[in-house]
Amino acid sequence: MEKIILFGCGEHARMVIDNIEDQGKYAVAGLLTNDPAELGKEIYGYKVIGLDGDILEILKSDPSITGYFLGVGNMKVRAKLAAWLDSACGVPAVNIIHPLALVSKHAIIGRGNIFEAYTKVANGAVVGNHCILNSFSAINHDQRIGDNVLIAGNVSMAGRSVGDNTIIADGASIGFKVRVGKNCIIGDGAVVTKDTSDNIIAYGNPAREVRKNDW
Ligand SMILES: CC(C)(COP(=O)(O)OP(=O)(O)OC[C@H]1O[C@@H](n2cnc3c(N)ncnc32)[C@H](O)[C@@H]1OP(=O)(O)O)[C@@H](O)C(=O)NCCC(=O)NCCS
Repeated sequence: MEKIILFGCGEHARMVIDNIEDQGKYAVAGLLTNDPAELGKEIYGYKVIGLDGDILEILKSDPSITGYFLGVGNMKVRAKLAAWLDSACGVPAVNIIHPLALVSKHAIIGRGNIFEAYTKVANGAVVGNHCILNSFSAINHDQRIGDNVLIAGNVSMAGRSVGDNTIIADGASIGFKVRVGKNCIIGDGAVVTKDTSDNIIAYGNPAREVRKNDW
């Protein structure tokens, strides 16, 4: 199996580990953290071996590590880490695709994405890098999903596009051909019937902008 480093050791990292184990393609060489108090801990049997900033040293000392994955849930931290790692660390972010996820051969997907069990990415979809697709959500055909987008569970996606760094929370419904902006949070159960602007928080049925999202 190819060896990778996982950033993070919290709730999100545990979900990622579970999917990595089911995929059976990557071995986790260790976890990194931004919190010195986490050093030496074990998460599902994998050791927290260093701080985020140790990555270059770790890669130098073990050339058999060929990839990394972001197991951090915070969207701003994810965006920052991704920008740094993709330009500086020299190994790619890998895709974690659960064996029970369906990805069309006519879809284009980037790097560092996780697609959980019972997800679908349909034909003509284009998914960027570092996206999360939780169980029972599908990206329907011909949609364009940016980078660092979180599509939570049970989301109905009939829209046209979702911008970078946007969260679409559990059970939301994105209406036919709707465009969701970048840096947004679409709340649980929201029914989005019209295009949204960038940097907003919206929820309700029909979804309304509640306030700006300070990105
Ligand atoms: C959308 C979000 C920003 C709203 O946070 P908030 O503005 O702090 O909301 P609050 O919890 O303070 O609630 C404020 C009010 O809005 C209501 N509200 C919050 N979310 C709502 C929603 N999705 N739909 C309808 N009403 C909602 C609350 O019931 C509350 O109503 P009240 O004033 O009558 O009591 C927050 O819920 C969020 O970040 N959601 C995304 C979660 C996520 O990341 N999911 C992915 C997990 S994998």
